[in-house]
Amino acid sequence: MSWPGLVSPEGDWPPEGGPLILTHSGRLAQEVGRFPSPATTGGSMAAMFRRATGSDAVGLRDLEKAANLVALAHVFPPEQHPYPDQLVLDRWREVLADPDVTTLVSEDDEGLTAFAAFDEDTLLHLAVRTNQWASGLARTLMAEVPSTRLWCLAENHRARRFYERLGWRPTGKEEPETFVPFPVRLEYELR
Ligand SMILES: CC(C)(COP(=O)(O)OP(=O)(O)OC[C@H]1O[C@@H](n2cnc3c(N)ncnc32)[C@H](O)[C@@H]1OP(=O)(O)O)[C@@H](O)C(=O)NCCC(=O)NCCS
Repeated sequence: MSWPGLVSPEGDWPPEGGPLILTHSGRLAQEVGRFPSPATTGGSMAAMFRRATGSDAVGLRDLEKAANLVALAHVFPPEQHPYPDQLVLDRWREVLADPDVTTLVSEDDEGLTAFAAFDEDTLLHLAVRTNQWASGLARTLMAEVPSTRLWCLAENHRARRFYERLGWRPTGKEEPETFVPFPVRLEYELR
């Protein structure tokens, strides 16, 4: 394993999932919606999210790969650390099967645009398609996440700025990842 975030939760397969859910903030998430731009929503970012199902595993893997290859190329140079496609796909299948984990996604005509996977305590996985970075989508998605802890690589500068802007702070706990090249990861909490 040479990339972060590969977890192996237990759970049944396939998970339950539906096109309509009530998210943690109490908003109704709707089936497969294009993320509206501020211009079309009068300035509000009323994103639509749905709960991912087993059929989203490949799309989640592909989105995570594309985002991480940009965000973390300085930590995992691809020529030295080829992206572990199958491992990450297997991990998503396990995440999606875990009844304790919720995965919310948004999408457009080209596929998934963002995801957040979390349990009651911890934000496990988050990414936004690179062509929607700085759009507000990531912030809108985070409003649906009830978790108050996460781990982030110390060298993931953009993500750290993003979290810190939203009020997350390092707890002071840090540890090396267990895989090459053993980058340091920091624990954050929402205060
Ligand atoms: C982390 C992530 C979800 C944040 O979403 P985002 O849309 O990039 O976040 P934002 O643009 O709103 O904010 C991130 C910071 O990037 C900076 N930023 C914004 N636009 C930028 C641009 N065009 N160029 C460079 N930096 C920019 C800003 O400093 C911003 O912080 P600020 O508001 O204090 O200025 C996204 O970058 C991502 O998918 N990264 C790859 C996966 C990842 O690292 N996940 C987190 C794992 S812990």
